[in-house]
Amino acid sequence: MLRGSTVGLRARHEDDIPILRTELYDDVVNASRAEGSPWRPITPGSRDPRLVVDDPVEARVPFSVVDLESGALVGTAALWGIDNHNRSAHIGLGLLPSARGRGYGTDVVAVLCHYGFVVRGLQRLQIETLADNTAMLRSAERNGFVREGVLRSSAWVLGEFLDEVLLGLLVQDWKPNANGKP
Ligand SMILES: CC(C)(COP(=O)(O)OP(=O)(O)OC[C@H]1O[C@@H](n2cnc3c(N)ncnc32)[C@H](O)[C@@H]1OP(=O)(O)O)[C@@H](O)C(=O)NCCC(=O)NCCS
Repeated sequence: MLRGSTVGLRARHEDDIPILRTELYDDVVNASRAEGSPWRPITPGSRDPRLVVDDPVEARVPFSVVDLESGALVGTAALWGIDNHNRSAHIGLGLLPSARGRGYGTDVVAVLCHYGFVVRGLQRLQIETLADNTAMLRSAERNGFVREGVLRSSAWVLGEFLDEVLLGLLVQDWKPNANGKP
């Protein structure tokens, strides 16, 4: 398990799947805003790549996020689009509704940076998020990500086009443990 100050990132367990499906992926608004693709219902037992144990796709590394103290599941996180030639990857995360706004997101980004830069030897990490997703923008910026551009009207979300912000962090600019969170 990878450890931050408050969260652990571990492998997906079968027990996590019904919770993530019900609390995250069955939420049409959250899924539509966070996924970059249209919401679809997920049949229990289906091999949805967001919910499989032992995902064999090498370019994507999914984690379940737990509270370090209690071990309780608080969300999901992934390094995806891993490109070993250009040594870059994307970061994605989603917390259960009850776990949001308590500092976990900032800590998850910190742990994913450690995984990307130290464990995988990457040079660049990237995040795309909706321009009004303040919590995601701040979680990234706390860890040193900088806004590199606005992708105008790039996301179709429930009836309207929204802007996305592209944020990047290079390994030489990364300062581990500098996000100001305990
Ligand atoms: C985005 C998300 C991962 C952020 O994690 P979080 O644990 O809620 O965020 P944190 O508690 O670490 O807060 C980070 C910052 O955002 C601020 N913040 C948190 N929730 C906020 C909200 N609802 N509105 C405005 N600011 C908010 C915090 O005050 C903090 O700011 P600071 O660094 O200036 O002190 C989480 O809210 C989430 O899972 N949201 C739904 C799914 C999603 O949007 N995923 C990202 C898709 S790209």
